[in-house]
Amino acid sequence: MKKAIISGSTGLLGRALVKLLCLKGIELLCLGRKELDKRSCEEIFGSSAVKYLCLPMERILELKRKSEEVNWVTDNSCVFYNFAWSGEKKLTDGTFKSQLENVGNSANAITVANDLGCKKFVNAGTIEETFADSWFKNSSKEFNSTQMNYSLAKIAARDMCKIVAYLCKIDYVHTRLSVPLDFTLQNGSYVANTLKKISKNIKYQKPTNSQLFDIISVEDVAKAYLLIGCHGKNKADYYIGSSRPATLEQFFNAFEKLLKTKNIKKTEKFFSNKSSFFNYSQLKQDTGFSPSSIFEDILKESF
Ligand SMILES: NC(=O)c1ccc[n+]([C@@H]2O[C@H](COP(=O)([O-])OP(=O)(O)OC[C@H]3O[C@@H](n4cnc5c(N)ncnc54)[C@H](OP(=O)(O)O)[C@@H]3O)[C@@H](O)[C@H]2O)c1
Repeated sequence: MKKAIISGSTGLLGRALVKLLCLKGIELLCLGRKELDKRSCEEIFGSSAVKYLCLPMERILELKRKSEEVNWVTDNSCVFYNFAWSGEKKLTDGTFKSQLENVGNSANAITVANDLGCKKFVNAGTIEETFADSWFKNSSKEFNSTQMNYSLAKIAARDMCKIVAYLCKIDYVHTRLSVPLDFTLQNGSYVANTLKKISKNIKYQKPTNSQLFDIISVEDVAKAYLLIGCHGKNKADYYIGSSRPATLEQFFNAFEKLLKTKNIKKTEKFFSNKSSFFNYSQLKQDTGFSPSSIFEDILKESF
């Protein structure tokens, strides 16, 4: 991979991947929906070497023409990473209709990637798809999720993307994540904010969600996407995580313990809950990926 195009480049995962690919000398075309001047680009991406195009996903079909305006030439090693997604105020909220808009945008991105001559399209999905898929196969009860519209739209995007990629004859790699986290706790997500509160001894509301989550550092996520860009196989569906699932309450309790004892061994009991959903072995087998850090390393990053 000598070149890559990244939609949603200004987001949590996009920024992390841009930084890593820049370090590896990969030429980048970053897409976003905000107008950014040169200084803002440097601040966000940490490099002046990236080309940035303001192009909302609703207009992604204009990419070929717009990319020429910034003298971007796609080569046959180029990978298109699709991270752009939005609800109404955040990633996962909003009506089913608003979530569904992302599906058409993602499918259009594949046709554009193919027209440009990209070698591979890598799409970001979520572990919520796996929960929903499992429910569809096994349950007779009503589907109950706190992120129902998001989960269903993500499944629709995955399936639509697979079909469009097949018809276009471009390689398609699907990926799923649980909780990518900036270990410096700067990104303001619910998990990062709660961990910050715990570190400052501020009271926080105990999570009521008993679902399992798997926290992985954004640097490891970026590493996984680099490897997928280079070695990921057509039609693969990779789970990117650390395979140490726990409930949010268990994560928060583990963090409290860690702050008190500074002893990683004492937090191990919080991660005993194994689930086959959070298994990155296929990713490891195909690309050689394994995470470089674990949840407890937050202590090294932030304090
Ligand atoms: N973060 C998680 O916990 C998590 C977990 C599982 C899966 N994922 C998936 O990973 C992908 C990236 O997530 P993330 O955490 O990086 O999300 P994020 O921080 O919210 O970033 C989303 C990116 O998409 C861009 N975007 C949204 N709507 C757009 C539109 N209409 N046109 C152009 N750009 C648009 C945003 O631009 P602005 O900067 O202008 O808002 C931002 O750059 C998403 O598909 C998400 O579902 C994330």
